[in-house]
This record gives sequence, structure tokens and C-alpha cells, in this order.
Amino acid sequence: MILRGTDRNIAKNLAHWEVKEKDFPKAGTIEEKLMFLLRYAILAPSGHNTQPWKFSIRTNKISVYVDRTRNLPVVDPDNREMYISAGCALANLLIAAEHFYLGYKLDYFPKGEEDELVAVAEFFVEELEKPEFPENLFASVILRHTNRNEYETRAINEERLQKLKVCADEKGFRLDLIKEPQTKSEVAELIARGDVIQMSNKAFRKELASWIRHNWTKSGDGMPCYAFGIPDVLSFLGPFFIKSFNMSKLQSEKDRRLANQAPLLGILSSAKDDKLSWVETGILFEKIALTATNLGIQYAFLNQPIEVPELRPKLKSLLKIEEFPQLLFRLGYAKQGRHTPRRLIREVTVQ
Ligand SMILES: Cc1cc2nc3c(=O)[nH]c(=O)nc-3n(C[C@H](O)[C@H](O)[C@H](O)COP(=O)(O)O)c2cc1C
Repeated sequence: MILRGTDRNIAKNLAHWEVKEKDFPKAGTIEEKLMFLLRYAILAPSGHNTQPWKFSIRTNKISVYVDRTRNLPVVDPDNREMYISAGCALANLLIAAEHFYLGYKLDYFPKGEEDELVAVAEFFVEELEKPEFPENLFASVILRHTNRNEYETRAINEERLQKLKVCADEKGFRLDLIKEPQTKSEVAELIARGDVIQMSNKAFRKELASWIRHNWTKSGDGMPCYAFGIPDVLSFLGPFFIKSFNMSKLQSEKDRRLANQAPLLGILSSAKDDKLSWVETGILFEKIALTATNLGIQYAFLNQPIEVPELRPKLKSLLKIEEFPQLLFRLGYAKQGRHTPRRLIREVTVQ
């Protein structure tokens, strides 16, 4: 169930998903308009729902920063996924800008790659001549969610597959969509091995548990247990179990099955493995996720073989690619999942 629309009792930390297009301040100042765009930016996915981003608005410019205090040192020691997450938020921001007829110019890392400032977007009250994103993605921003349910084995037809494929048609990037059972099962083995390595590591489990919330959480970040299919009562014990017990066997068996069962595995890779490529990976991934949402296709990550350093080259050679795998996900049809919380706009804006 997605909490949207007429649900009057909507929890405060889920209310962000209620953003209404009609509330765009058409007659407002440019700053008010840009502030409204942030409502869409923050709906982006992020590793462990850390929402590792900050924004500042100055007249017609939005600066997008990574928030390094929200890092995940164990699963993401290089902050690679943090920059990908910021890229996802940037994509939502630009998709919303295009929808409200605002043109923009982007300047990446104006202070160099070591600075927290990822990009400055300068906006104009004039449409882009050539929009970057298909217009129909906007409606999916408030619907997209990571869906960890079981997927039907029903195939995704060729026409839909092509629509997903073109999302990553950018120089320096590639999207491999795997449907052939033998290759899927080899990738699934790497995912299962990744689970064993990660879940046997106490520090990994401690970090993961610190971002898992019970199902009635009022927190604006982290992952409620319902996102993993854990029922309400058990959800109070979720973080304790994850932290205390090595459930790597169970997890690896589950993920192997989910990967094999899904009609499609997607791997998004980039020619370079630097911060700019990570941000661009995020933008392209968000495009894929929103396109999938538009087509009624669900997705969930299985990034383990990319996150575990010794498995990443194995995935690369299995796929016979030169590029660096950045994100691995399954795609398919499933019952809807639920949205996760977001922090307040005032918590993610700085002067
Ligand atoms: C870069 C990145 C890496 C992620 N890695 C994983 C992952 O390995 N496993 C997983 O289940 N979810 C993963 N997620 C999904 C997040 O947990 C999810 O986006 C977050 O909890 C917010 O939920 P939502 O996507 O439904 O809005 C990842 C998301 C991003 C952006």
C-alpha cells in the first residue's frame, strides 16, 4: 500500500509524498519556485535512506551538496553511493524544473571534486530548447519506491526493455539488462557471496541496524522494517536481530532466489570511477527507476557484488565489460510497496 492521496492520517514523515503540482507558486518569486522544486528532489532514493544531501538557494541558483555527516563508512567507504544518491536527487530536481517550464544550466564540482559542493544549477524562467528528460517522468517522482517484494516470473516485453535501455544511452555509460537464466544465475551467485561476506561482518550489521526503524517510526530518515516485509510487531526487534545475529545464510539464499526469479537484472556501469561519474550514474539511475515506475515495473537493488571490493572485478569479468559496475538491481512485476520517510525541507537546506 502506498500512503498517498486521501489518507487523512498520513504520518508527518511520509507527508512529503503528498506534494501537489497545483501548489507550485506560479506567481511567486524565483526563490519560492526553487524552494518548491526541492520537494521533489528529496523524494529521491539514497543508500539506507540516509538522504545524504543539502541544498542552498540563492536568487536563481540551487547549490547541491553531499552531507558527509550522513556517510556509511562500512558499506560505502569511498562515499561512492553517497554521490550516486546526490545524483538521484539532482535528477528529480531537474525533472521538476523542466515540468514547471524552468530552464537551467549546470556546473558540476565548481570548487573541485574534494569539496562537498556537487553542482550548482542556475535557473531561468524560460524553457530549455531541448529538455533532458522525457516529460512523462515527472508524474512518477511521487510514485517511485524501492520494492523488495518477490517479483513475478512474467517477462518484460521487448518494447519495454528498449524503453529502459535508452535511459542510459549516454557516452561513458552502459546498461546491461540480463534475462538469460544462466547469466542471471551466475550474477545471483555473486550476490549470495556478497551477502555472506557483508552479513558475517559485525560492523556492517551494526551500521545497517542503525538505519533500520520500527514500522511506526516518526524518524525522517532510515528504513522502516515494512520496506523489507517485516511485520509491525516484529519490527521492534528488527534492528536488534540484524545487529546481533549473523543471518548471512538466510539472506544469501533469499537474495539468490529473488535474483533468479526476477525476469530481468540490470547493471549500470560507467567508463570512469570518479565522483562526477558517480553523480551522473545517479542521474541515469533515477531516469531508469522513473521510467520503470511509469511502465508499472518495480525495482530493487542487489548491490552486494559491487559493494564488496573483491567481487566487483568478478562481476566485471562475468559481464565481459571494461566499464565499472555501479548499481545492480532486479526489475519485474510485483505488488506495490510503501513509501519510506523523508526529512523536512528545513533540515536539508543551508544558507
Ligand atoms: C546508491 C544507492 C544504493 C542502494 N543500495 C541498496 C542496497 O544495496 N540494497 C537495498 O535493499 N536497497 C538499496 N538502496 C535503496 C535504498 O535503501 C532506498 O532508496 C531508501 O531506503 C529509500 O527508499 P525508497 O527508494 O523506497 O524511497 C540503495 C539506494 C541508492 C540510491
